[in-house]
Amino acid sequence: EQIMKGNYDHFMQKEIHEQPESLTTTMRGRLISGDSSKAKGVLLGGLKDHLKTIRRSRRIVFIGCGTSYNAALAARPFMEELSGVPVTMEIASDLLDREGPIYREDTVVFVSQSGETADTLQALNAIARETDCGVHINAGCEIGVASTKAYTSQIVVMTMVALALGGDTISSQARREATLDGLLDLPNKVREVLKLDDELKSLAKLLMCEQSLLVFGRGCNYATALEGALKVKEVALMHSEGILAGEMKHGPLALVDETLPIIVIATRDACFRKQQSVIQQLHARKGRLIVICSKGDASLVCAGGSCRVIEVPQVVDCLQPVINIVPLQLLAYHLTVLRGFNVDQPRNLAKSVTTQ
Ligand code: G6P
Repeated sequence: EQIMKGNYDHFMQKEIHEQPESLTTTMRGRLISGDSSKAKGVLLGGLKDHLKTIRRSRRIVFIGCGTSYNAALAARPFMEELSGVPVTMEIASDLLDREGPIYREDTVVFVSQSGETADTLQALNAIARETDCGVHINAGCEIGVASTKAYTSQIVVMTMVALALGGDTISSQARREATLDGLLDLPNKVREVLKLDDELKSLAKLLMCEQSLLVFGRGCNYATALEGALKVKEVALMHSEGILAGEMKHGPLALVDETLPIIVIATRDACFRKQQSVIQQLHARKGRLIVICSKGDASLVCAGGSCRVIEVPQVVDCLQPVINIVPLQLLAYHLTVLRGFNVDQPRNLAKSVTTQ
């Protein structure tokens, strides 16, 4: 059943719309229920005997390529917060090129949807013969070359790893409970955001002839900016760049004019005020803005200029990247169809890159 398109035109479309189910499968049997209907913790069989060692690490190093790297980047803030261990990011090929140092006291996490990527495997070989432990994503089979449901499931897996590492300290209890509740409700929230499909299709019609598209994000949603731009680039074959909003004044601002479309991710989290200020500065330069914001925030984020708004359900900050990527996946999909390109097999790309 998984390798049939069913009622969908393309696998990428099917896999985007399947995310409520794939996320449910990723979490199945891993959230421990308490007395009430609420989950009380997470149980990751593959990790449980190693948690103490990981907690004692000097750093956690995430290594991956492409979308898997972006998923790790999305999970990094919460991983640092709950584990208290600094997390550093490595693109596998770059670590290999530099022969970057990895120490005995490091925990190295290899993130891969296929487990076949040559650079990631070579980095693994350079560090150890084999892994000590791991967690399966369980998102089901993904056929479209552009990764969609694997991305959101990877974020959820790494969020569960962070919860497992965090232990049950009193100081983090409220935060853990909010995240566990957020995980349980996440499939419903993704179902809700998928209803924006028509809205994204009409946005795609507006943008289909553009040369370029910028995506600004920060905090947990810096990864969303990179991943959204990657989707647009790889399937719609449109130049697109994900930009860390905090770096705006160090270059990207020079590109802003009345024609270049810019997507700004400004959902509610600790970075919201800073993103509001970014929007104001882009308005002041007459930027052509499309803002992704939390439901009910449209007039707030657009005060001071005109912009198109995509309102998404608000969830706990560490899971917001799972929600926010969905409109960008839909946009990339519709742009590709409208521009007449191959959705499931973009030119020059392969589902798993097994050569260097
Ligand atoms: C290729 C695929 C991407 C994927 C990347 C890393 O570029 O097209 O979708 O994110 O490889 O693959 P991995 O299987 O290691 O996650």
